[in-house]
Amino acid sequence: MKSFKTFLSLVIITVLSCVLFAACSPKTLVMGTSADYPPYEFKEQSGEIVGFDVDIARRLAEKLKFTLEIEDMNFDNLIPALTEGTVDFVMAGMSPTEERKQQVNFTEIYYKGSSILLTRRGSNFTLGDNAPGAKIGAQKGSTQASAVGKLEGIELVEMDRIGNLIQGVKENQLQGAVIEATVAQTYAASNPDLDFSVPFDTGSQGSAIALPKDSPHLESFNKALREMEENGEITELIRKWFG
Ligand code: ARG
Repeated sequence: MKSFKTFLSLVIITVLSCVLFAACSPKTLVMGTSADYPPYEFKEQSGEIVGFDVDIARRLAEKLKFTLEIEDMNFDNLIPALTEGTVDFVMAGMSPTEERKQQVNFTEIYYKGSSILLTRRGSNFTLGDNAPGAKIGAQKGSTQASAVGKLEGIELVEMDRIGNLIQGVKENQLQGAVIEATVAQTYAASNPDLDFSVPFDTGSQGSAIALPKDSPHLESFNKALREMEENGEITELIRKWFG
């Protein structure tokens, strides 16, 4: 009887410590991103992915006790990565559009930006009279691409990465490209031959975190984001990355 009791206590201790260990050891969550989007997310020379989104993700990881892993991919592969379950959430300056909401869930918006039409300096290109037949670039799968796709008489050229769009405009393969204004500004300094000044309304702005429909993290992410709004952390990071 005594040895049975000892055995039973051993089993209970083992089970309890396993449960406790699982609860205490941090889980890993994989964030999908498209690291071609300074200051939201971009690669440093060392290859490390940094930026506004990454800083927010790191703070979420700290608050919600998970280990953060980041996976870089082309922007248009992000929603498939969420629905296929290869990433746990996406932060990529992604706007919560109605179309995307059919496939994934979004947190509240944590930052609002706007877009511009990038052209070659001195080309005087506008989307007015000289536009018919023009080739205008935008990132594949982005809200900018769907907005350009709706323009009449314009040929939309979709490219995987923002860097390719900048190159396309510089080399005259594109008459212009529509990209986010803050992203454009970070490219402006190293590209004096480009004009980053013409506003372009895509109709959908703002960035939110995307999660799979069945993700258990939507509530906790929203709660942590709200806390960061209220305690000024988001404002501090906006100042740090957007100046
Ligand atoms: N805000 C746009 C969208 O949601 C473009 C985002 C592109 N993000 C990136 N990391 N390249 O479609």
